[in-house]
Amino acid sequence: MANSNTKILNDSLHNKPLAKGSLQNKPSAKGFSQNVPLTNNADLGTYLSFVQQFRNAAPYINAFRDQTFVIYFSDDILADNEFPSFVHDITLLNSLGVKLVLVHGARNQIEKRLNEANIQSEFFHGLRITDNKVMQVIKEVSGSIRIDIEALFSTSLKYTPMAGSQINIISGNYVIAKPKGIINGVDYLHTGDIRKIDTTSIKHSLNAGDVILLSPVGYSPTGEIFNINGEDLATLSSIELNADKLIFIDDTRGIFDHEKNLLHEITTQELDTIINTEDTEQSDVIRHYQRISHASKMAVQRVHIIDRNIDGSLLLELFTQRGIGTLVCTDHLEDIRSANIEDVNGIIELIKPLEDSGLLVKRSRERLETEIKNFYIIEREKQIIGCAALYLFDNKQQAEIACLAIAPEYQSQGRGEKLFSHICKEAQKKNLKELFILTTQATHWFIEHGFNKKTLQDLPGEKQVLYNYQRNSAVFVKEL
Ligand SMILES: CC(C)(COP(=O)(O)OP(=O)(O)OC[C@H]1O[C@@H](n2cnc3c(N)ncnc32)[C@H](O)[C@@H]1OP(=O)(O)O)[C@@H](O)C(=O)NCCC(=O)NCCS
Repeated sequence: MANSNTKILNDSLHNKPLAKGSLQNKPSAKGFSQNVPLTNNADLGTYLSFVQQFRNAAPYINAFRDQTFVIYFSDDILADNEFPSFVHDITLLNSLGVKLVLVHGARNQIEKRLNEANIQSEFFHGLRITDNKVMQVIKEVSGSIRIDIEALFSTSLKYTPMAGSQINIISGNYVIAKPKGIINGVDYLHTGDIRKIDTTSIKHSLNAGDVILLSPVGYSPTGEIFNINGEDLATLSSIELNADKLIFIDDTRGIFDHEKNLLHEITTQELDTIINTEDTEQSDVIRHYQRISHASKMAVQRVHIIDRNIDGSLLLELFTQRGIGTLVCTDHLEDIRSANIEDVNGIIELIKPLEDSGLLVKRSRERLETEIKNFYIIEREKQIIGCAALYLFDNKQQAEIACLAIAPEYQSQGRGEKLFSHICKEAQKKNLKELFILTTQATHWFIEHGFNKKTLQDLPGEKQVLYNYQRNSAVFVKEL
């Protein structure tokens, strides 16, 4: 398998490898300028933004290795010009070590073929009744979609950013089905339910680096073929495989609130509230939400719903903080907790740029290690995105809040306030009477959080001795 990480770096820059040190004419380690000419500021901007984005993606790349994703995509995506890009994105994920199970839909093409052949197909309670003629069309459509997908995975990589990658896409008799049977007097004929998924064989192939492709048909031990629902198949596969992610790429685009704003992240509990209050006429949508809620409760850690109409939507959802669709998970992804020694690196990464810009006082690694017990952090998907420290003094009445920082991309969304309230509660538990802060550029933020301007003399004696007159920070105090 090609080393795709290097490849992405090269190709994303229009095949111009990013020479070390070529971004800025800064002095080299030996003290003289490398004088590599920069073409123009626009190029520099592009390079820097690429580097920043690539760095931002790094934690996800690391976390996703060896994870299992089940991805359902509706069949209309095949008709789109973007389908080859989707194939590249899948190949990219595969080369990053993600284990992939793809489940394709077939509904729209089946509908089209039935219309062309003038075959009537009945639905009851949203479920198709699959007679022999309809089943024949379903077999033809599913087979043809599968072949098209396999062909694209085999051929379309040659002249693309993923050239040189080898990907094996495997389909098989992984799904055992049974007839849905007769419900309320209606015989659903060849419409089936999933009885079992051969997860042992699927896992075996996934461990070998292959991508699994599942079609929405199942086979019974008696040799019959059944029409099954693709979304149900994806959901059940994700549960049975204990997948890390279940991803739906279709026209649903995500989950929206009543003002039609896309919800980027909701909990299963919040989704259940939507299910219980939603207009029952939207029964397809409700059924879809129920599936998602079920998968989420059955230990699939993250369920994503992504718009199929946006080129690169899969990568945008997976490798950017905000994502482009909706993420459903059992709990909110963030947690505020006391820091421990393992968090030192993450805290340094967060505060270093703020120290360099003079917003925060510089702290050495040794100091951080010694003082780590004073720190609280906001952790999001194993990344530290906020921190603050609480220092107690001998009088046991006053404490200092210091090193309050929220990562730039997460600012202005209430996290600073949440972390601050958490610390206030901790301070109250310790029976402290006052919190104080020394600040140079966040005075108004603290005023808005109940602090009043005070003087150095209002601080504990030990702090007065350590005051840095050069920094000239303003003193603010809040009574608890
Ligand atoms: C100060 C800081 C911790 C606030 O975190 P946050 O998560 O962005 O804060 P919240 O979302 O709770 O509040 C956002 C509000 O605070 C305002 N705000 C942010 N930084 C501010 C500052 N330095 N001064 C005044 N107001 C500020 C925002 O404009 C926003 O106001 P709005 O809602 O009216 O638009 C964060 O901006 C930060 O890390 N800054 C850099 C480090 C720093 O200065 N720390 C203070 C050390 S003493």
